[in-house]
Amino acid sequence: MSKQILVTGGTGYIGSHTVVELQKEGFDVVIVDNLSNSRIEVLDNIEKITGIRPAFEQFDLAERDKTDAFFQKYPNIEAIIHFAAHKAVGESVGKPLMYYRNNLVSLMNLLECMKKYDVANMVFSSSCTVYGQPATLPVTESTPRQEAESPYGNTKAICEDIMRDFCKATDSLNCIALRYFNPIGAHESGLIGEFPVGIPNNLVPFITQTAAGLRDELKIFGDDYNTADGTAIRDYINVVDLSKAHVVAINRLLNNKNKKNYEYFNVGTGNGYSVMQLVKTFIEVTGVQLKYQVVERRTGDIEKIYADTSIANNELGWHAEKSLEETLATAWNWEKNVRNID
Ligand code: NAD
Ligand code: UD1
Repeated sequence: MSKQILVTGGTGYIGSHTVVELQKEGFDVVIVDNLSNSRIEVLDNIEKITGIRPAFEQFDLAERDKTDAFFQKYPNIEAIIHFAAHKAVGESVGKPLMYYRNNLVSLMNLLECMKKYDVANMVFSSSCTVYGQPATLPVTESTPRQEAESPYGNTKAICEDIMRDFCKATDSLNCIALRYFNPIGAHESGLIGEFPVGIPNNLVPFITQTAAGLRDELKIFGDDYNTADGTAIRDYINVVDLSKAHVVAINRLLNNKNKKNYEYFNVGTGNGYSVMQLVKTFIEVTGVQLKYQVVERRTGDIEKIYADTSIANNELGWHAEKSLEETLATAWNWEKNVRNID
């Protein structure tokens, strides 16, 4: 019988791609999502890609009684991938309690239920934001974490600590935190992708929406950084590659290959690209002109970060496979599908 995996936030951006990869590997997926930042139609599109409609339960994981009822209804869950969280950095500055309540309480409810209903394994969505601006690059897992720049970033650091401490106190529990660098792109089918509500904060959705004519021009935040072209550097990871890292992490836990009962890994490509390099690559790959203008730096942005991926490569046996060119092509393909552009 196929193993049953709970994917929280499974109708969201990274969750939906991970559901597809899990189903392709033969897992039986159950999604929990309150649809606060995603749409129910994502289920149809997952089904179009894989031929399998995942089970779906709509509720808020910050509600303990509903979370309990879920585990009573699904007694065969063997592992959880916990994506569900609020993730808008700017919004978290204005509404910190909303972020702390949603992101921390959801995790604690799940951990308590894991103990109560005997679910041993969890993979958690963390972020390279926990490193702040590192003194040396690339960033390894032993690079010290720094105080978070935002309440959102702080929820990721606190969630990591909660998992670490609860794993220390609970031998039967196994957790892996994956620290994502910058996930971009979409499924090659163009059926699922990133669907930001309102004006996108992140670079690639802003680029594709500008290319699609929804935005007048891209604003490049600063060209006076200490980098070759003056624009900031990030490690952009293809969302399907990132999703595959979750399948690898789940298999590691299910097959008892983890070395400790709380582990964390960097998930990036190891390559840093500047904003200007990314913009130029997008124009080259798609042939679409993009209006852009350099403006002031964005408050809270760091200058450069990219991952040392050797531990993920050697210990997990996972590698990022897709190039920036391929990835940007999938992002544009998705945007065109959403906007009905030929
Ligand atoms: P997303 O907003 O597309 O997906 C999150 C999903 O969780 C949404 O569908 C939302 O409706 C759901 N959700 C939120 N709170 C919930 C709750 N209390 N109960 C039930 N459902 C809830 O975000 P994403 O980009 O797919 O990110 C997934 C995870 O990865 C998040 O934890 C995010 O913080 C983390 N992460 C994302 C990035 C990124 O750049 N996208 C980078 C690092 C880490
Ligand atoms: C941001 C968050 C980070 C979060 C990640 C994923 C901040 C400070 N950091 O990362 O905590 O984990 O999103 O959600 O918000 N850029 C432009 N013009 C734009 C948009 C972005 O020039 O319109 C630049 C940024 O200045 C940055 C790069 O593009 O240098 C990437 O930005 P973005 O996609 O927002 O990701 P991060 O800021 O790295």
